[in-house]
Amino acid sequence: MTTSDLCGHRLTPMEPFGIRLDAAMPGTPVGDLPVDRLRELAREHHLLLLRGFRGFDGAGELAEYSARWGELGMWPYGAVLELVEHDDPEDHIFDHRYVPLHWDSMYREQVAEFQVFHCVDAPGAQDGGRTTFTQTEAVLRQADPAHRRLWEQVTGRYRRAVTDYSGECVSPVVTTHPDGFPVIRYNEPVPPGEEFINHPELEFTGVGEERLPEFHRTLQAALHDPRHQYAHAWRTGDVVVADNYTLLHGREAFASRSPRHLQRVHVLGTPPMENTALVR
Ligand SMILES: [Fe+2]
Repeated sequence: MTTSDLCGHRLTPMEPFGIRLDAAMPGTPVGDLPVDRLRELAREHHLLLLRGFRGFDGAGELAEYSARWGELGMWPYGAVLELVEHDDPEDHIFDHRYVPLHWDSMYREQVAEFQVFHCVDAPGAQDGGRTTFTQTEAVLRQADPAHRRLWEQVTGRYRRAVTDYSGECVSPVVTTHPDGFPVIRYNEPVPPGEEFINHPELEFTGVGEERLPEFHRTLQAALHDPRHQYAHAWRTGDVVVADNYTLLHGREAFASRSPRHLQRVHVLGTPPMENTALVR
């Protein structure tokens, strides 16, 4: 592992992908770091972890900071999603259970390039709740050629009917990043036996029904392979910027009522990427 530095802070590659910047002086404001350089790192490594810096005092400050990265993706609730367990969750986002792999903005007019996460409160070390990220360009690069040929034939259709998240989206499983390299867009079905609020309707076409079990099995094995998947254990104050064009992400279950509180903002690309998968 090689380390270098950025403005005197230690920069370390992560495994199996991503890059981490540790504050040389704990409490240095995140806002003091050069955003242009951070953006380059997030694009090159697909995930950037800023640890030991002083984060944000409230959602307003996080939104103001994220706007320095690019145009914000706006939602009916505003720019900042408060990811915290609700007493009586109306959607799986506000539950404590497992969330399968997916990409963000699949039902929006424009697809966010970056997710900026801020950890307001981390769950305890034994409480679970890691966010999982899979580097899909690497999955395809290292895939068994026969598996990849199968995945390339399949198209996913996803439909949800929930306030703020409703819509329909149709996307080939293997598609192209705006920079021209192949990536995977796939919303993983919930495993049998898992409880899940508002599961989308899923339909996969392009190959015969009899090949679909093999499709899901080989693709999920590759997406969860530790060579391509990173599970982030949150620490209070962490800031993570993730490349939503290339990665898929999900959540491990966590102990109900543990103090897990994340904030998330979407930053659009330059120019913003129109969501061609959306059924209008
Ligand atoms: Fe998500």
